[in-house]
Amino acid sequence: MEATDYLTRQHRDIEQALGDALDAPDAAVRRSRFLDVADALILHIASEEQVFYPAVHGDRSEDVLLESLEEHLALKRLLADLLALAADDAMFRPRLHVLRELAQHHHGDEERKLFPAVRGKLGAAARDALGRDMEALQRRLQAGGRPRRAVRQQTAAAGPLR
Ligand SMILES: [Fe+2]
Ligand SMILES: [Fe+2]
Repeated sequence: MEATDYLTRQHRDIEQALGDALDAPDAAVRRSRFLDVADALILHIASEEQVFYPAVHGDRSEDVLLESLEEHLALKRLLADLLALAADDAMFRPRLHVLRELAQHHHGDEERKLFPAVRGKLGAAARDALGRDMEALQRRLQAGGRPRRAVRQQTAAAGPLR
């Protein structure tokens, strides 16, 4: 699938899943839904940092990519905090709410500031190839099981701009 369509579709899926977790009927269901969306979010971020951002890195996109990497760091830290909380912890739902707000803000930034520039810079074939590379990476990481486990090693600093 074309890269920006692929990422935009995942943005909507992740936002929907975060809303479903917040709307869960009880704490156990909320945590179980959160664990699924944590896996989806960490796969999404990994494919952006390892495949998409390096491929679109250029003079004009540097600022927005650095800002995006900082937002990824904030998302990862919130994910790590939430993963460490018990389902019935009083802070679970408020933190999950903040995660959703930050994810929505970050997705909006990428869709407004970055994706149009990428569609101007790269042709359709290159964007299709990027989409395929991201799908392949996400499949590979998913096959390793519980991608969310990788988040604890990624909370010290923002990923490098490659
Ligand atoms: Fe992102
Ligand atoms: Fe994204």
